[in-house]
Amino acid sequence: MRDFLLRIQNLCLGFQTEAGYLRVLDNVSLDLTPGETLGLVGESGCGKSVTAQSILRLLPCPPSRVEEGHIWFDDKDILKLSQSELQDLRGNRIGMIFQEPMTSLNPTMTIGNQLAEPLRLHRKAGAGEARAAALDVLKRVGIGNAEQRLNQYPHELSGGLRQRVMIAMALICSPQMLIADEPTTALDVTIQAQILDLLRTLQKELGISILLITHDLGVVAETCHRVAVMYAGRIVETGTAVQVLTDPQHPYTRGLLAASPRYAKKGERMPAIAGQVPPPGKRGQGCPFAERCPLVMDICATMPPLQGDEHKAACWATKT
Ligand SMILES: Nc1ncnc2c1ncn2[C@@H]1O[C@H](COP(=O)(O)OP(=O)(O)OP(=O)(O)O)[C@@H](O)[C@H]1O
Ligand SMILES: [Mg+2]
Repeated sequence: MRDFLLRIQNLCLGFQTEAGYLRVLDNVSLDLTPGETLGLVGESGCGKSVTAQSILRLLPCPPSRVEEGHIWFDDKDILKLSQSELQDLRGNRIGMIFQEPMTSLNPTMTIGNQLAEPLRLHRKAGAGEARAAALDVLKRVGIGNAEQRLNQYPHELSGGLRQRVMIAMALICSPQMLIADEPTTALDVTIQAQILDLLRTLQKELGISILLITHDLGVVAETCHRVAVMYAGRIVETGTAVQVLTDPQHPYTRGLLAASPRYAKKGERMPAIAGQVPPPGKRGQGCPFAERCPLVMDICATMPPLQGDEHKAACWATKT
């Protein structure tokens, strides 16, 4: 029996829009054990960020609405937490880092004051304690000249350093889990590699769990223990990174791999999977991938269940 830190069960969530209510997450289930890194992959619009935001209850409701499901974190259902319990969850128990640090860092505050804020809020830390903790966490995320950095503003730092500061802010209260939504997409390749390296080191040294959202299957291979593939608001395949990347069962996963520079067989790299993710409201009753699928059959008009033991796929055409 796996010992879960986070467990999302059958989450169905949508938004009230001008076009009516649109379901965006359909029966999403995910789990994460202590110290594990889970990669969440899928094309744009599949629901990765909405999943991440729903874990921290960051989506205003309305317009968002949870139709059904549970999000268990350490035996408590996040969907039932009070405002004060939620405040404790955000930043203190679960840290979050986003794609573009400039939108999450406050341009008018020094790095030192921004790092101290969560400590004052969650730990009631005084100025001296906050400063010591800030210096400590800056060193941990590999920022040199930490003393000097405390007095600088975000615009004085390079993109890579800003992302390290974001990670430092997410870690300063020693959370059990980190949610990283495309943390390297806005960075150039060398810096990307350094940030991923840092996440791996932190995961090992601090034993935290990481939910890593990415488009890049190469990143999954290097960083994640397990992976969940999301398509049109559903989890279509999940398993260990080795299982999913070397023996993909869902035609969508195979399509992503064929389009990936790292995994495509020599001379067989496809530009991308033809067609597009159907938008919410246009997803019908059957398998949402059917219209793009090379293996489509009549039965695909009925939604395939996610089946299998450790390695699961939601496809009528596969053996798992
Ligand atoms: N506030 C909202 N109101 C209505 N629809 C929304 C809202 N927020 C997100 N959506 C829709 O939810 C779906 C999933 O969006 P989400 O941002 O989770 O995708 P994603 O997988 O993170 O994509 P990307 O890779 O581009 O970041 C999209 O169709 C999006 O248009
Ligand atoms: Mg996103």
